[in-house]
Amino acid sequence: MTPTKLQDRFGRVINYLRISVTDRCNLRCQYCMPLEGLTFHPKSEILTFEEIVETVQVANELGIDRARLTGGEPLVRKGLPELVRMLKRETDLKELSMTTNGLLLARQAEALAEAGLDRVNVSVDSLDPKRFREITRFGDLERVWEGIERAAEAGLTPIKINTLILRGFNDDELDRWVELTLEHELVVRFLELMPIGEGVRLKHLGGFCNLTERKEELIERYGLVPDRPERGNGPARYWRVPGAKGLIGFITPISDKYCDSCNRMRLTANGELRPCLAYDVHVKAGEAIKRGDRRAVKRAFLQAAEIKPEGHHWEVGQTTRTVMSSLGG
Ligand code: GTP
Ligand code: SF4
Repeated sequence: MTPTKLQDRFGRVINYLRISVTDRCNLRCQYCMPLEGLTFHPKSEILTFEEIVETVQVANELGIDRARLTGGEPLVRKGLPELVRMLKRETDLKELSMTTNGLLLARQAEALAEAGLDRVNVSVDSLDPKRFREITRFGDLERVWEGIERAAEAGLTPIKINTLILRGFNDDELDRWVELTLEHELVVRFLELMPIGEGVRLKHLGGFCNLTERKEELIERYGLVPDRPERGNGPARYWRVPGAKGLIGFITPISDKYCDSCNRMRLTANGELRPCLAYDVHVKAGEAIKRGDRRAVKRAFLQAAEIKPEGHHWEVGQTTRTVMSSLGG
């Protein structure tokens, strides 16, 4: 059966689902989660592995054929490799990837790869252990690197590193990252800060860094050339130092907005369908999912596509109140 396309009012086709498997995290990155005062979804509301698989099966019928596991931190969800195995066996996903903070990756990389996970993206917001700890509050950079190495050995490649660049905090690390790609097959992606949840209160750690401008400087300094645009399902645009083993990616939601090519929807850990990162609008599908009512779940997807906004308006200050951690980035 040819799947129907899930299309929004602006003609964008949605083929990518970001699945948050938990709203909990073993870090408290300053732009993502407050240190205290957060309430988490009650356990009874969290979708089980079976329920996630059934939801993805419905999404498949609507043409969604790629998915990413996110959190919180996905690896704090017990038995995650089993979910990967189930999704690979019981759904029609062409690609299944994961975004992680890497802390628990060394331990689980092999099991994830064996279960069929295709690749991982890892957040590493600084190359300096002290700064890394400061921005993540508890992070141990060495453990994360170990996780990246184990993931590479297990074949969870290409490994993409996400590094949020803040002016006056870590924007002096751009050159070191670029130089790292000369000899390593890493895809290093520079991210602009978005005014979501905690991201609005980050002034003490430095400010927004315009990466379109910084890209121009790097082109001048290293002779970066554009690389194939289709290297993922997300918004990054890729460049390469001629002859380098790795790639540099730019994710520029503010300085070079990419909403017109948005192809995704988010499923939260408690079964909300969120059509846009920039707005609190959502469709509650949790009850229908838990009842096993596939027709209602399908209707929820269609409804979420119908209310998907054309794009963000962060340039005029509007933002979601939801903390980033429950949306999975
Ligand atoms: P691939 O390119 O397929 O590897 O995945 P991805 O880039 O979609 O996944 P990842 O979770 O690594 O996302 C990296 C960053 O891209 C996030 O931390 C966000 O900064 C940004 N991003 C991802 N999805 C969206 C989105 O829907 N809207 C906006 N504005 N930014 C997004
Ligand atoms: Fe898509 Fe909304 Fe993100 Fe723009 S802000 S890329 S419309 S999810």
